[in-house]
Amino acid sequence: MPRIVFLGPPGVGKGTQATTLAQQLGVPHLSTGDLLRAAVAARTPLGLEAQGHMDAGRLVPDDLVLKILGERLAAPDAARGFLLDGFPRNLAQAERLAGITTIDLVLSFELPAKLLIERLAGRRVCPTCQSVYNIVTRPPKVEGKCDRDGTALVQRPDDRPEAITTRLAVYAEQTAPLLGFYRKSGLLRSIDAAGTPDEVAARVRNALH
Ligand code: AP5
Repeated sequence: MPRIVFLGPPGVGKGTQATTLAQQLGVPHLSTGDLLRAAVAARTPLGLEAQGHMDAGRLVPDDLVLKILGERLAAPDAARGFLLDGFPRNLAQAERLAGITTIDLVLSFELPAKLLIERLAGRRVCPTCQSVYNIVTRPPKVEGKCDRDGTALVQRPDDRPEAITTRLAVYAEQTAPLLGFYRKSGLLRSIDAAGTPDEVAARVRNALH
């Protein structure tokens, strides 16, 4: 039963890798960013409270994120294991997570800031099926349209330059200390996130074995 955490800065490719690996392992991909964006799109009270924080690139308050994640972790499919993407994001969340479940492995994805910014600035997403593209590295077949359903692709509000700057600073201040936390517990493996998605996926598979 694999219980894996994907850790890494914005734009490093966590979601891209987690989508593929979760299918291969037959476990759910639990992304707190995706769960929060779904709550924003559905205009739930939680989503409305989270939206301003997300659009500005700040972390959403811990209690809101824990509520949404706790509900998802309690679903039957998560009993088979899971890939946690984007959680925990600070020490308080890591301590709360340790009280809820055991983690077997933490993969830390690493990439220079210049490449992170390029990947984020080029990202486009489908608002219908949530597929992720990149105008430079993973363009859709027809410019500006989702390959799966033809919907016009959009840019995430937090992929605009001001929000990217804030997200990178928040990562350095609040999330990077988790590397030491998980290294001490012997769970951490580093993954070089440079290169194509297939090259990175091969490194992820090696780290699992
Ligand atoms: P979240 O959605 O988790 O965003 P993030 O961690 O900033 O990560 P991203 O989704 O931006 O990047 P990614 O690493 O998944 O990269 P991707 O695969 O898409 O969180 C958003 C917000 O929600 C937060 O800012 C916060 O407000 C809130 N939130 C979420 N969790 C929270 C928590 N626990 N606590 C509090 N608040 C929370 O790839 C990026 C681009 O690069 C894509 O275009 C992709 O096609 C491309 N790409 C991917 N891999 C490669 C490759 N190998 N080569 C070239 N291009 C590539």
